[in-house]
This record gives sequence, C-alpha cells and structure tokens, in this order.
Amino acid sequence: MEKHNDEQKKDNNPDEEKPGPSSENTETEEDTEDSGMEKVRKYLLQKLKINASDSESDSTTGVLKELTIDGIVDYIKQIPKCKIITMVGAGISTSAGIPDFRSPSSGLYHNLEKYNLPYPQAVFELDFFKENPEPFFTLAKQLLPEGFKPTPSHYFIRLLWEKGLLFRHYTQNIDTLERVAGLPTEKLVEAHGTFHTGHCLKCRAPYTLEWMKEKVLENIVPKCEECEEGVVKPDIVFFGEMLPDRFLYLADKDFIHADFLIIMGSSLLVQPFASLVDRVHPSCPRLLINKEKVGMQDRISRFLGLRQGLIFDAKTSHSGRDVAWLGDCDTGCQLLADKLGWGEELKELVKREHARLDAENLSAKDS
Ligand code: OAD
Repeated sequence: MEKHNDEQKKDNNPDEEKPGPSSENTETEEDTEDSGMEKVRKYLLQKLKINASDSESDSTTGVLKELTIDGIVDYIKQIPKCKIITMVGAGISTSAGIPDFRSPSSGLYHNLEKYNLPYPQAVFELDFFKENPEPFFTLAKQLLPEGFKPTPSHYFIRLLWEKGLLFRHYTQNIDTLERVAGLPTEKLVEAHGTFHTGHCLKCRAPYTLEWMKEKVLENIVPKCEECEEGVVKPDIVFFGEMLPDRFLYLADKDFIHADFLIIMGSSLLVQPFASLVDRVHPSCPRLLINKEKVGMQDRISRFLGLRQGLIFDAKTSHSGRDVAWLGDCDTGCQLLADKLGWGEELKELVKREHARLDAENLSAKDS
C-alpha cells in the first residue's frame, strides 16, 4: 500500500521525478501529514492486533483491463478453466415470484405486521420459534418451493457448471431453486440450510419436504409423529443456529482457490456469509450483479488499509478488481452470457427447462 501511494504521488507530480537537491530530503507539509496518518494507522493495527499481511497491498491494482463487464469477460476468456465461485441471495429468486427480505415495500420483513412480531427478524429466530412457531409456518406458505421455477440467473449458474467453470455455488436461499435448476449437490453449498428436509426439534426424527408441505398448506404446525411432542422445523438456519458443517468446511477450503467471484442478489448484511467476499485471493476479481451497491468497504477498513469489503470507487488506491453491474440479476446474467458467446444457449436452456417443469407440474396435478 505504501508503495502504491508513493507511485501515485509521483504520477500526479512530475516535478518529484526530477533528480537534484531540490527534490531530495525536502519534506513537504503534505508528507508530514501523510507520515503522521501512517503512524496512526500502524498504531491502530498494532492495538487491534491486526496482522499487516491482512491489509490490502497494491497487488489488486490493474487485475482487470477495464472495470466493466467487458473487462470481466476478457479476464474469464484469458484464464483457461477459470475457477468461478458464485454467491447469491434472495434477489436471484424474486423474478420467480419469491419475495426477498429487505427490499422496501416488497421485501418479507416489510410485510410482517399481521404476524404481531416483536421485530421482523424474530420470525427466523430459534428462541422465538420455540415459543411461538405459528408466524413462521404462516410465512412458510409464501416461501415453500411450490410451483416456483428457477430464474435465468439460476440457469446461468448451471451453464457455468456445464462449461466446467463453476468451482462452487454458495447460496443463502432456502427455496431449493438451485436444485430444481439441475445444479449437482457437490457444487452446491446451502449456507442457510434448505426446506428440502426437516427435523423434530425434540427427538431429531427426520421428515421430508413433502410431509412438511402437506401440514403447512393445511395451516397445521407440523408436530413430530415419533415423539408426539416436538415441532418439526425445516432444516433452514435460524438466527441463533450454527451454519451447516458443509458451509464451514468448504468456505475455508474453496475461496482462496477462486479465480473469479460473482455476487448476486444479496444485501450482504448477514454474517458470516457476507464476509465470504473477503476470503478470495487479493488479486481475485469480484463482480456484483445487484439492484444496488452492497458490501462496500467501510471508512475504518479503508483507513486501516484492511482487505475488507468491495471497492468500486475507481479513484481509491486499491481499486482494480471489483465491478458493480447495477440492475436486474436476470438481465445482468443474460448480458454476461451474451458477451461470453452463450446468450442463445442460456435462452434455450431456460425455455427447455421451464417447459419441462410446466409439463411435470401438469401431470402431478392430473394424477
Ligand atoms: P435481502 O432481501 O437482504 O437482499 C436482497 C438484495 O437483492 C437487495 O440488495 C435487493 O436490492 C437485491 N435484489 C432484489 N431483487 C433483485 C433482482 N431481481 N435483481 C437484482 N437485485 C435484486 O436478501 P439476502 O441478502 O438474501 O436469512 O438476505 C440474507 C439473509 O437474510 C437471508 O438468507 C435470510 C434473511 O434473514 C435467514 O433466513 C437465516
């Protein structure tokens, strides 16, 4: 970082390049201020017990030729078998008809008045659920993977897999749409669990989605048929619960090996998922496809030079690898696919798979 700042100063001030006594050993007011700030920074890093190697280095500069989708596409094409990790949130499923959590007016947390909750997130808190499971199951009717079809964003991720480029897909979503889209389980990390299975909170007896769905659709709180006491909770991770072992194990192993990270449809407000963006190598480019900028580096991290958060501001000294494409996930994925030369393939895949799912739903209704 220091080296980079020095280089930048030289670029901005050609006089400093001139050799001679006037440019040597002459400390300007700005230099004194800079070294003062540097001392404060070093002092704080030491006090906070932060290793200097955890702070940014100028190795991030200029990873992409341009901080645009074109720059990204060039980069992906350049790297043979580019290892891509995708990490996503509710925004990739909204076009399927499933609300996200925090969008103003349409998000789930803005539409929970009728449940009389102390605060919106209580519906996903374990302690609250144990006392009062009804609000969750009423809400679950909206979230159950019933008749929802994966979106073009889901199929774009499948296409990455088919092309041999998907290293791993990390999702916060519990809607199981990645599975429906045909992503193999070994490529999938469901960080916040899934509706796919459930367990009795008392005796841990396992239950299937079909069994839970039947109860939930009949407005019955599912009770365990084994111990006849416990409530059956879908295996989604509530606040107050550990994330699945698979997440903890693979997140440690995967991220450092990624060549490229795509983040889509998440507010990046929930930990530990949000800070996965910091686990990739400092030179790994990161693309955010979202309606708004999220997960950005805060001022303190910037001051301390820490490698935390996304940096979209091209003027900062550590920029050079993060790109924000703002808009709808499906449109962003289609654009990326077009530029990678797979545009028609993606459209065909969505059409074919949606037709297949429609036919399946129809025959399930008939039988
Ligand atoms: P949020 O609702 O917090 O964030 C969704 C993000 O996607 C927001 O930034 C939206 O602007 C954006 N978005 C919505 N629709 C979009 C679209 N069509 N195209 C592009 N962007 C879109 O959802 P998550 O980040 O997934 O946890 O929330 C994280 C966790 O918070 C959830 O897994 C859930 C919740 O509490 C648990 O249930 C444990």
